[in-house]
Amino acid sequence: MLIEENKSLKNYNTFGIECFARYFFSVTSIRDLKKVLYSNLHQKQYILGGGSNILLIQDIDALVIHINLKGIKIINEDNNYVDIRIMAGEDWHEFVKYCIKNNYGGIENLSLIPGNIGSAPIQNIGAYGVELKDVFLSCSTISIKTQIEKEFSKEECKFEYRNSIFKNEAKGKFIITSINLKLTKRNHKKNISYGVVKQKLNENNIENPTIKDISETVIAIRQSKLPDPNKIGNCGSFFKNPIIDKSTFKEFNELYPDAPYYKISSLEYKIPAGWLIEKSGFKGKRYGDAGVHKNQALVLVNYGNATGKEIWQLAVTIQKKVKEIFGIDIEPEVNII
Ligand code: FAD
Ligand code: EPU
Repeated sequence: MLIEENKSLKNYNTFGIECFARYFFSVTSIRDLKKVLYSNLHQKQYILGGGSNILLIQDIDALVIHINLKGIKIINEDNNYVDIRIMAGEDWHEFVKYCIKNNYGGIENLSLIPGNIGSAPIQNIGAYGVELKDVFLSCSTISIKTQIEKEFSKEECKFEYRNSIFKNEAKGKFIITSINLKLTKRNHKKNISYGVVKQKLNENNIENPTIKDISETVIAIRQSKLPDPNKIGNCGSFFKNPIIDKSTFKEFNELYPDAPYYKISSLEYKIPAGWLIEKSGFKGKRYGDAGVHKNQALVLVNYGNATGKEIWQLAVTIQKKVKEIFGIDIEPEVNII
């Protein structure tokens, strides 16, 4: 087991922030994972996937366990469905491509989301009308404290919009080692309800899209507005879209009748934080090397050498301004470390 000391994490987070891990171990087997946890090298552990949803504001004084467990296995199959187990260290988008190639439907709308398979349940990744929970069966975990394996069913994961048990009562207690998904082999339940997806398919005269068409459409949309982390450091949406109750929505809608919104239920409405941030005047603004992306105000960027603290300072300034103007709280989606 190669354990590195004082390891730079600059290449392990998509913001490209320079911070150091006291200890760093890239784990490739469950056996080594249990062994390193048992060794108690450091009293604290931090679990790292692709680093595409973390903002490092300081060095990590812990054993950073980089999840590098690989493997894809079909565990059940009939004419209509396939149940697949994917190890936590597999790349999410590479797996989406594998599914498109094999005509397994269900996650085509989640094309091009960066990061690892094992991180997908943490915030119940979602895009263009689909969330992980729509295809999720269960996940396998190991307790950090006892090294005992535990399976979480979909219900036990308590998935919500950008939320799960792993961001709440189970936070920091379990390492997800694999996930099981149920995908379709035919009669795919295609979701083209999201406005811009529908619009793009129409523009390309695609009436009955295949899952490959949907994947390609989503990729084109994402590439047109989200910055590529290999070129400009970022973690996608920095904030969650706020959910407000009916009476707050009524007041908001009267004041800003042009503001976009999604009705979630008879009691709740979701407002795009990107709109709130743009209207607060931050879109495209740059403060040193920290900035707000020019095409998507929800995305904070590192133009080069911003520190995590500088990005966080900008985030706090945005939160305060949005609250001052609209009276709405916006919460980070990114995990602040
Ligand atoms: P990390 O950043 O490495 O970790 C995220 C959190 O999960 C951390 O708290 C970490 O401790 C924990 N964690 C990681 N692995 C494990 C594990 N195996 N067990 C237990 N805990 C673990 N997200 C969306 O939902 N929808 C989008 O459309 C989307 N678009 C994005 C676009 C861009 C350009 C970028 C950069 C990000 C985007 N994201 C999106 C956010 C990000 O891709 C997802 O949150 C992704 O699932 C993070 O995976 P990761 O492996 O990089 O996680
Ligand atoms: N908008 C603006 N200005 C902006 C950005 C957005 O006015 O600068 C408004 C537009 O009206 C637009 C609406 O916001 O129609 C929604 O924008 P978009 O379709 O880009 O989606 P989003 O709400 O900004 C969410 C997710 C994304 C996901 C897309 C597609 C959150 C926090 N973000 O963004 O997820 O890819 O929808 O489903 O829910 C991520 O989590 O990192 C992420 C990128």
